[in-house]
Amino acid sequence: MDHKDLREQNRLSWNAVVETHASHRGELAGFLRGGGSTLFPEERALLGDLGGKTLVHLQCNSGGDTLSLALLGATVTGVDISDEAILYARRLSSETGIPANFVRADVYDWLGEAVREERRFDVVFSSYGVICWLSDLGAWARGIAAILKRSGRFVLVDFHPAAEMFDEQWNRARAYPSGGEPRLLREGVGDYVAESGGGLTPAGFEEGVRGFENPHRSHLFRWGLGEVVTALAGAGLRIVVLEEYPFSNGERLLPGMRELPGRRMFPPENVPAVPLMYGISAEKS
Ligand SMILES: C[S@@+](CC[C@H](N)C(=O)[O-])C[C@H]1O[C@@H](n2cnc3c(N)ncnc32)[C@H](O)[C@@H]1O
Repeated sequence: MDHKDLREQNRLSWNAVVETHASHRGELAGFLRGGGSTLFPEERALLGDLGGKTLVHLQCNSGGDTLSLALLGATVTGVDISDEAILYARRLSSETGIPANFVRADVYDWLGEAVREERRFDVVFSSYGVICWLSDLGAWARGIAAILKRSGRFVLVDFHPAAEMFDEQWNRARAYPSGGEPRLLREGVGDYVAESGGGLTPAGFEEGVRGFENPHRSHLFRWGLGEVVTALAGAGLRIVVLEEYPFSNGERLLPGMRELPGRRMFPPENVPAVPLMYGISAEKS
């Protein structure tokens, strides 16, 4: 099932929260202008040298990471379904003077068009809370494989589906995700930037908007890690790296997480280690 209707509801839910997230980010434009980066070491390592490369950043949100990628020498295109996120990203690009092309589009529509137009990129990148918004992993992976140049790379860093199994007290409350089963979030996209208390705001955390309530619900799609890897391999990409990490970068996925150096969030002391994030690098042969 395509679920375009659910993805359109997600667009409204994301639109509603962008300003609230932005209110916590501090002086991001000045931070980037001064050469600061919003990227974490894990994606930097997987991406390698970006000098002179063409790169598309799928589900780029408000563009901080996209502009940080441009600072590493790539010619960047950011794609996101949210009108508000793309407006913010374009503003950030002009305020910082860091060039980037930002496109507002559903990732499936954009990939379809890029494939029809035979566009090709050296690198496709996506990160931190992206797979859960995808209703069809096969179409996504085939689109990515089709727009990569030969020897081009796809890099993904995302929160681990195992984290989805826990409730707010870290009890196992849900089955491991599989099959892209939709999960309704009545409360919509929340203010995870505030909840992460500085973990997602390298330019400094500001109090900003408090008590945000999203008027639009959202819909997640529950996929397991094996399904992500199988979709990429099935599209003809060679998996070069698949790494799992016992922490999440920046985001406090659940209450009680401990912040260790580098804005790495670990579970509370009494919770045995569990993978909370993974990274993939895959190559088009
Ligand atoms: C958690 S954010 C990703 C974070 C991002 N890496 C960053 O740098 O902030 C998820 C993004 O996916 C976008 N999104 C959700 N569904 C989408 C779709 N069908 N097509 C394109 N973007 C989508 C949302 O608008 C949101 O900006």
